[in-house]
Amino acid sequence: MQNKRLEKVANLISNVNVLADIGTDHGYLPIELVKSKKVNFVYAADINEKPLNSAKSNIKNAGLDNSKIETILSNGISFINERKLKVDIVTITGLGTSTMIDIIENDSPYISEYIFCSNTEVSSLREWSNKNNFSIKKEDFFLDNNKKYWLIWIDKKNNHKVSNTLLGDFVELKNNLEYIKYLNYEIKKYENIISKITNDNSRMIYFENLVNQIKEYINEIG
Ligand SMILES: C[S@@+](CC[C@H](N)C(=O)[O-])C[C@H]1O[C@@H](n2cnc3c(N)ncnc32)[C@H](O)[C@@H]1O
Repeated sequence: MQNKRLEKVANLISNVNVLADIGTDHGYLPIELVKSKKVNFVYAADINEKPLNSAKSNIKNAGLDNSKIETILSNGISFINERKLKVDIVTITGLGTSTMIDIIENDSPYISEYIFCSNTEVSSLREWSNKNNFSIKKEDFFLDNNKKYWLIWIDKKNNHKVSNTLLGDFVELKNNLEYIKYLNYEIKKYENIISKITNDNSRMIYFENLVNQIKEYINEIG
């Protein structure tokens, strides 16, 4: 696959019966997953008609039809709830974390796992997982075309709480030089904010606390 970001997601997936790709746009991920036989059947959903039409034409050009990929016009995962569809994995990629959180507000008992690849930090997804007694199976952070991406895989079967919801507590993040570089950049950003704070003690304490937490974390995982 040409797209590093979608390739990272596709590489996690194998032997899946039913997957739903939410915000599919061009449909590249469903096409790759079906062509490589990693997934038997994919629902490719998008809230907008234009991207869905582009997915439809790409699916057709790839020689696939709706016996393998069904395109659906839907806001998030509402179609899964409405049709009571059993879905092994839901993928949501290329969106920001707050949109992802909005989408999973309607989480369905028919969904077993979620793989998110967000372009904003994912602490609220970790909190969502903890709050619902789910477990995080994998995390990653990487750059693609100089843009930052957070990958997080939530498994609803197990109950294993993340201890560090702010930064993640996964061995995969250990020795991840890109992640450590990003965290050092965040420290500099917050220190710069602190240097400009006057007459707002609670704000100062908030950012100092943040900087200390990140420094401790780097010492632990670095
Ligand atoms: C930036 S594209 C990402 C496309 C693809 N998933 C990827 O990673 O390359 C975001 C897509 O999500 C769709 N989208 C945004 N909000 C959505 C929602 N609530 N439900 C379904 N699709 C949504 C948009 O219409 C757009 O096609």
